[in-house]
Amino acid sequence: MAKLTIHDIKTHGKRVFLRVDYNVPMEEKDGRMVINDETRIKETLPTLECLIEQGAKLVVAAHLGRPKGQREPSMSLRPVAEKLADLLGRPVAFVDDCIGEKVEKTASILREGDILLLENVRYHAEEEANDRGFAEKLARVADVYVNDAFGAAHRAHASTEGVARVVAARGGPCVAGLLMERELKFLGDELESPARPFVVVLGGAKVSDKIGVIDRLLDKADALLIGGAMAYTFKLASGMKVGKSLVEADKIDVAKAALEKAAARGVKFLLPLDNTVATPVDTGRLNKKGKPVFELKNPRTNAEKDIPDSEEGVDIGPATSLAYAAELRNARTVLWNGPMGIFEDPRFAAGTSAVAKAVVEATRAGAKSIIGGGDSVKALNQAGLGDQVTFMSTGGGASLEFLEGKHLPGVEALGNRP
Ligand code: 3PG
Repeated sequence: MAKLTIHDIKTHGKRVFLRVDYNVPMEEKDGRMVINDETRIKETLPTLECLIEQGAKLVVAAHLGRPKGQREPSMSLRPVAEKLADLLGRPVAFVDDCIGEKVEKTASILREGDILLLENVRYHAEEEANDRGFAEKLARVADVYVNDAFGAAHRAHASTEGVARVVAARGGPCVAGLLMERELKFLGDELESPARPFVVVLGGAKVSDKIGVIDRLLDKADALLIGGAMAYTFKLASGMKVGKSLVEADKIDVAKAALEKAAARGVKFLLPLDNTVATPVDTGRLNKKGKPVFELKNPRTNAEKDIPDSEEGVDIGPATSLAYAAELRNARTVLWNGPMGIFEDPRFAAGTSAVAKAVVEATRAGAKSIIGGGDSVKALNQAGLGDQVTFMSTGGGASLEFLEGKHLPGVEALGNRP
């Protein structure tokens, strides 16, 4: 069901409670927290600009990290307020809480087009508990509720779900922002009846993380191309040897069932023909969790489907990259989620980068390419190709749940178009 958006309502002079996902990667530099990737902030600018243009009084709420109800200073949104002001080219007020007298006072003096960013909603444990009383406190500055936080829409929290219920109960509008609208269009409507061939590239570490998506896509896709550590569990399920590669031994049956479903439906299910492999060597050190740290030595291409006992698969190999690129060349719709190997290590990034290039080439040839968030977005941005695909999701867990066909609480709470 299509959701109402900010284009369907009038917000002039109204206090708009705008929930965004500003959960951006940060690191400490010279005693200050610095934002490493501002994509999620930039992607909300059209919504903010549209609401400013309408003359709304904006109260913006977000979470950062998982402070678990504590005031963790490294997870303050203050640096985000500065970045947002830079990007918008106008002042952004900031208060160091998200409820209470200070918030209400500041919200009461906002003029049309003013913006106030609230402090991390997760500094209060009631946020994640979706506490009704807390949602009511947040809603004291909300005449209208707008949700542009697709990345957090799988969470039924007070600011993503509870406030909407409070505002709706008072008869106030609850609508989607423009980023939310785009996410729902590309990850939802566009994949409902995709132009064919519809080719899906799936990577990442675990079959268990992606099995819901695989199962759903087997009903729609013409081909699934598998990479990442997940491929080794599928290889094992197909009777191949995987050496010391990462596998989920308890998911072999699940993998077998997916292979059988693919065969029964005539969906091509491609596993790596070759791999980059390396030898894990124990360093004698332990990581923070007390587990032994291994170094990956002597990388090489293993042209066989079986991986020798002493080695670990760390990327798809060159023959697989070519085969996957050939498959993508014919596609009219592409969905890509998850890297093909340990792409953070340049020695094992070739497969992911080959897929990124092939997705871009398919797009140039007229295919619609949809990137399902997380590491694939990072890989495309690293390769400087982020602007050469049709759509890149800002969601991680939310995109996966949505692609699985699950209802997202943050979306469900918004009003439907008549
Ligand atoms: C994300 O980064 O995926 C979202 O902001 C949700 O964060 P969470 O997994 O901590 O709820």
